[in-house]
Amino acid sequence: MDKEAGKRLAAEEAAKHVTTDMTLGLGTGSTARYFVDIMGERVKQGWTLRGIPTSEETRRQAQSLGIEIIEPDETTIIDVAIDGTDEADPSFNLIKGGGAALLREKIVAKAARKFIVIADKSKRVVALGAFPLPIEISPFSWALTVSAIRAALTANGFTAPRLSLRATDGTPVKTDGGNLIIDAELGRIDAPIELERALAAIPGVLESGLFCGMTDMIIYGDTDGVSVVKP
Ligand code: A5P
Repeated sequence: MDKEAGKRLAAEEAAKHVTTDMTLGLGTGSTARYFVDIMGERVKQGWTLRGIPTSEETRRQAQSLGIEIIEPDETTIIDVAIDGTDEADPSFNLIKGGGAALLREKIVAKAARKFIVIADKSKRVVALGAFPLPIEISPFSWALTVSAIRAALTANGFTAPRLSLRATDGTPVKTDGGNLIIDAELGRIDAPIELERALAAIPGVLESGLFCGMTDMIIYGDTDGVSVVKP
């Protein structure tokens, strides 16, 4: 399968859900990038679109394409948020955050009237967990937070969770908001809703990459076309 073709086709299908004068949540990552490119073409054709970017990377791309950028607090309405995913299960639960933008992505997706996920077909899984779960944490007393995460994971049935602080060349990765990312290698996650709740209850955890019960539609792209699935 040509993954890039799948991503592009999914983005094109998602663009059919956008009309002029909408306010959009703009996701982050290589799949969302295709979608933002298409929105840039629409703007060149004369459409009015406002975008709330979920990362500085997406902000730069959208700005370079002439899409009007607005801050989340400048509007009460986000018509639709469109974003990629790292994994999606049959119950429409997701793992996101491979690109370290999960906190802003979750805030925007939750606030949107509609949340559309776009992905190449390789992201469709039977159960979440092959992809390490990103967890965004506050830098303040981060080691204490990691201990609390480990305890919560053990209490939720993960016997030997491997947790690592995301780093590049030995330097911890900082999110756009200045936070840290813990990647948790868990293996199969049978109860993602309960796990999302347990992690959210830990002081110091800002968000986990589990996006449960939020998705209105997933568009999977494949070399030969798209399949659109809804809960
Ligand atoms: C960004 O933090 C992520 O949630 C991305 O949306 C996710 O990693 C998908 O990225 P790709 O579209 O690059 O696979």
